[in-house]
Order: sequence, then C-alpha cells, then structure tokens
Amino acid sequence: MTQHHTVRIHNRQQGTQHELQVPNDRYILHCVENQGVDLPFSCRNGACTACAVRVVSGHLNQDEAMGLSPDLRRQGYALLCVSYAQSDLVVETQDEDEVYELQFGRHFGKGKVRAALPLEDD
Ligand code: FES
Repeated sequence: MTQHHTVRIHNRQQGTQHELQVPNDRYILHCVENQGVDLPFSCRNGACTACAVRVVSGHLNQDEAMGLSPDLRRQGYALLCVSYAQSDLVVETQDEDEVYELQFGRHFGKGKVRAALPLEDD
C-alpha cells in the first residue's frame, strides 16, 4: 500500500530548503523533480554518487545503490535516485564529490579504483 512521507531537503549549495510529500513506492529523486525541485544527479541508476545526500534523520531503502559502499551507508549517506522513503526524512546535499572522494579518493594511484568502480560493463 502506498504511504506518503514528508521529506525535508536542505540543498546546501543553493542555500534552499524544501519540504515535500513523497510516496514510499517511487524513487525519491524522481518525485522531488516532479515537484519542481532540482537536485544534482547524473546516472540515475545508483552508480555514480552524484545524487548522494547525508541522511540527517529517518529511514530509507536503497537496496539498489550499487555505487555506495556499506560503510558509507552506515555513515548515513544515501543515493536519492534509487532510494525509497520508509519514514519522514531529513536530508542534506553532500559537498561536491564528497561521497566519491570518501569512497575512491584514497585509492587513486594504488591500482584499486578499477576493481571498485561499478562502471566497467557499459
Ligand atoms: S544519479 Fe548516479 S547514483 Fe544517483
């Protein structure tokens, strides 16, 4: 059964706050865009981390977020393009490339990046 949750988004780059009703059976990013709010994105399939946010409070389901390590999920990051709201949520946008750098930054130059990137099969 579809339930609606209140999602509050702080876009830190634009200095804007948004409060929206989002159903629990649609991707959050998609719903937010449909309501006229622009957020960063690129791949739309959970791989690139462009849409990553910090979850300040609440629960979401992001089983399809292949591009986000379990560590970073535990630290409270989420990919909105493949996330479903499970409760009311408060999220804020990441710094530019924050999640990408947390995941891959320290491995650059050590030969681990290719194995970690989920982009090889295109
Ligand atoms: S837009 Fe690429 S992970 Fe969400």
